[in-house]
Amino acid sequence: MNDLSLPFDTKYMPLAKLQEMHRRSLESPEEFWAEQARQLDWFKPWDKVLEWDPPFARWFVGGQLNASYICVDRHAKSWRRSKVAIYWEGESGDRNSRVLSYSTLYAELNRFAALLKKLGVSKGDRVALYMPMIPELPIFMLACARIGAIHTVVFSGFSAQALADRINDTQAKMLITADGGFRRGKVLPLKATADEAVASCPSIEHVIVVKRADNPVNMKDGRDIWLHEQLEPETHYVAPEPVESNHPLYILYTSGTTGKPKGIVHSTGGYMVHNYCSYKWVFNIKEESVYWCTADVGWVTGHSEIVYAPLAHGAAMVIYEGAPDYPDVDRWWQIIEKYGVSIFYTSPTAIRMLKGFGEKEADKHDLSSLELLGSVGEPISPEAWLWFYKYIGKERCPIVDTWWQTETGTIMISPAPGIVCAPLKAGSATFPLPGVDAEIIDEAGNPVPPETRGYLVLKKPWPGMMLGIHNNPDRYRSTYWERFPGKYLSGDYAVTDRDGYFWILGRADEVLKIAGHRLGIAELEDAAASHPSIAEAAVTGKADPVKGESIVVFALLKPEFTPSPQVRQDLIYHLRKVIGPIATPEAVYFTTKLPKTRSGKIMRRILKAVVENTPIGDISTLEDQTAVDEVIKSFQEQSAEQPGKPVSSTG
Ligand code: WT7
Repeated sequence: MNDLSLPFDTKYMPLAKLQEMHRRSLESPEEFWAEQARQLDWFKPWDKVLEWDPPFARWFVGGQLNASYICVDRHAKSWRRSKVAIYWEGESGDRNSRVLSYSTLYAELNRFAALLKKLGVSKGDRVALYMPMIPELPIFMLACARIGAIHTVVFSGFSAQALADRINDTQAKMLITADGGFRRGKVLPLKATADEAVASCPSIEHVIVVKRADNPVNMKDGRDIWLHEQLEPETHYVAPEPVESNHPLYILYTSGTTGKPKGIVHSTGGYMVHNYCSYKWVFNIKEESVYWCTADVGWVTGHSEIVYAPLAHGAAMVIYEGAPDYPDVDRWWQIIEKYGVSIFYTSPTAIRMLKGFGEKEADKHDLSSLELLGSVGEPISPEAWLWFYKYIGKERCPIVDTWWQTETGTIMISPAPGIVCAPLKAGSATFPLPGVDAEIIDEAGNPVPPETRGYLVLKKPWPGMMLGIHNNPDRYRSTYWERFPGKYLSGDYAVTDRDGYFWILGRADEVLKIAGHRLGIAELEDAAASHPSIAEAAVTGKADPVKGESIVVFALLKPEFTPSPQVRQDLIYHLRKVIGPIATPEAVYFTTKLPKTRSGKIMRRILKAVVENTPIGDISTLEDQTAVDEVIKSFQEQSAEQPGKPVSSTG
């Protein structure tokens, strides 16, 4: 395999400690996790560590706790009250930055929770958040948790329709948004988009609006509320509501292989325990660390690795509002220098983009505070890994390549410098963390030997795992647990090498990773087909040097339409409108035939081979083999009309 020689002396490192802990965690998982859970504050201890009624796991049953208490109160009551919780950096820099100590966070949390209560939000209610990267976002999440309300954060790059779908699926009674957010100097009109969404969301009683951008907005009487006008000036203590361990903390939507995105529901107890532990193991967080995760809070990385894990540890962290390349391409390096960031956690897409700007940009800044680097969201190539290692970490900082998913709740496979750092290999997530029983299997469900690709599955329940899919237990069962009974199907391909290292190879299903963002092929095809000019659409991912993958659409027009740049533009706009800017296709090819099997299934692998210019392979199962020539012809004729655009978004 890709065994690169690294300046680590790999032979003598004490892997035994890690292996021993891993073995013990799998031999007696309940004992192991109970021991870990005791590190958190429980209002009432659990009666039972695990109830496993496959495929539904309930952890720490009967135990009571509150996530906001763990993340804020216990620090505000200790010497950490004066420690920095959040260094918030506005996109426009100094004039616009804020520093929040744990005691400030505590005061704000209580004020926000009091407002939610005053407006009639109570335990079990759903609250939707559609916000930019401002401190009010994590504070509102924690305020929901404080009163036992369930938050559902919708990434601010999603469209009105996507927001409305999520609100309607959760039946949220409140939406929290802002008058705008800054991205590359431009204002995102979040309130206007929210208004459009809420017009089709009868469950919404109130919309709270945070003033961020001095952007004019319409306020609807009786429904819309300015945060600053309604917050009580004084802090009123709102007692944290003790919730049972399996009370949902949040619902977060993610794309799958079929239909609409699914609402992944996470618990409070199991999620907090597991997330707390993995954060310590992976990032080796210390009291004096300054931690920065560049994700958007709207994704699971932001939920677990910006809000719940770092705050549960009383960590000091940086939150940055804007884009990596604004106003200059050294913006992120400048932030690391400014705050003395010691742990820097980002995505392969961002690393490739920054690598593209060149190490000379990093060299303009003192990055000597860095101690540990991390990567998440997609496979990282050895080249990108080595660049990050060499030019950013200056060959001093381990890189934790962390594999996990919205569904797993927290990091599952990763180096663990907080336990002991195994010798690293560029591009490998190394080994499963304690409590994680990972295996790679073939079509028949049998474990594959080393150096053979297979499906990555998990064989034991883990505390951070989802409670289920909101309102859809059948989809939960069929998506993850049916194909290989008793095993959780991750949807990824992976391989181990001769040393037992795990290498994650990417999705094995019809899910794309565009700049690390997860989008379903079926979702994109449905959205494309909902445009009036389109009879049928097929979508494939195309390898992209920065984004990892980009979206390519093959479209069959209805007879009354003819191909033109205008129709293409309309379709691109339509996809942005239905899903959001992250669904912008790189190219649209009009064709008269799509390659299909006799049973009518589109053979997307042929489309992928055409756009990536690789061998087409076996086409004997095609209904009409001339479809291949037709697709190649469309591709060749129309490629010149649409040169690829450079990447402009990461998250
Ligand atoms: C999918 C999950 C987990 C937070 C961000 C994404 C891919 C994630 C890695 C990694 C290779 C990775 C997988 C996974 N992925 N981390 N370190 N190496 N691939 O969460 O949107 O739920 O996506 O991201 O394909 O299944 P998500």
